[in-house]
Amino acid sequence: EKGNYRHFMQKEIFEQPTVVAQTLSSYIRQVTQSVTLPQMDFDLAGVKRITIVACGTSYYAGMVAKYWIETFARVPVDIDVASEFRYRDPVLEPGGLALFISQSGETADTLAALRHCKAHDQTIAVVVNVPTSTMAREADLLLPTHAGPEIGVASTKAFTCQLSVLAALAARLAVLRGRMDREEETRVVQHLIETPACLNAALTHDDEIARMAHLIAPARDVLYLGRGPDFPLALEGALKLKEISYIHAEGYASGEMKHGPIALIDEAVPVIVLAPSGPLFEKTVSNMQEVRARGGKVVLISDAEGIAEAGEGCIATIEMPKVHPLIAPLVYAVPVQLLAYHVACVKGTDVDQPRNLAKSVTVE
Ligand code: F6R
Repeated sequence: EKGNYRHFMQKEIFEQPTVVAQTLSSYIRQVTQSVTLPQMDFDLAGVKRITIVACGTSYYAGMVAKYWIETFARVPVDIDVASEFRYRDPVLEPGGLALFISQSGETADTLAALRHCKAHDQTIAVVVNVPTSTMAREADLLLPTHAGPEIGVASTKAFTCQLSVLAALAARLAVLRGRMDREEETRVVQHLIETPACLNAALTHDDEIARMAHLIAPARDVLYLGRGPDFPLALEGALKLKEISYIHAEGYASGEMKHGPIALIDEAVPVIVLAPSGPLFEKTVSNMQEVRARGGKVVLISDAEGIAEAGEGCIATIEMPKVHPLIAPLVYAVPVQLLAYHVACVKGTDVDQPRNLAKSVTVE
């Protein structure tokens, strides 16, 4: 039931603080302030390489996880979209962990990739939202998300729940490998516990984003820019906008603009910049200035500090709470989801059932 919401997608966006808290509660021990994973009968700390495979939004969650796992745990991570994975004959060496991410647990390409990895002696871990799904049954390590049923075709709450589990996995792996001490683990746990409140803070911008949607709705093309773990969020923002509003959108790593895409910029192309203040901020802002210098209309999504520094001259800004880099991708998911949602509402498209799309893609 949609309750007071107009669409399932809207309801699911607003459920995120609750379902993320629900998901995190099974990966955090409050008493010991530690991160925990379900029982497993293999040596996670001894894993030599991690291969992540997924599709669509779940793939973008995997891209964020690559940054986290490599940064915190120093384990090398490969990542592919499932439809490409098998056909490049990937090198799968003994001692490898293959990690699959899927809301449904039934996506045909992801499942085929899972079976390919199994046949090549990889240990199989899955992050899935449907605990009775095929992928869940075939895994050595099941890492459930507790998002509840996701009805809207565009994935929203499943994505932030996937990120929650993946953050816990990265932290646990770092602890096991001696890369994260008790003090840092406690700090990470604190940040994770604060995440639902930060998501709530992000959701308070709903009305403002609904008004802003009128600026974006007339566009034919929209670009999204981000750096580091916020680059996959740029890709996710573009995917959400395309699939429900049918506006052509692309996400780019901010630093790639000058290698080609900047040629697209003119007054008709809104550019959404995802830039939390922090070590990557200055670089992203200088990419943003390059866009502005060419007449590009920028919407800056940042925190108060970032907006104070670089918000001038933007057509709009959306102020996120100041958050730890580990949880920024979770929090910044909210404004890009809301923006896509409201633009689709302005355009009057079928938000929950976009044309040509199915909720679960069971053909390859
Ligand atoms: C986008 C979207 C899709 C799915 C993709 C994978 O909003 O929902 O891109 O993320 O089809 O589906 P799952 O996660 O079920 O494997």
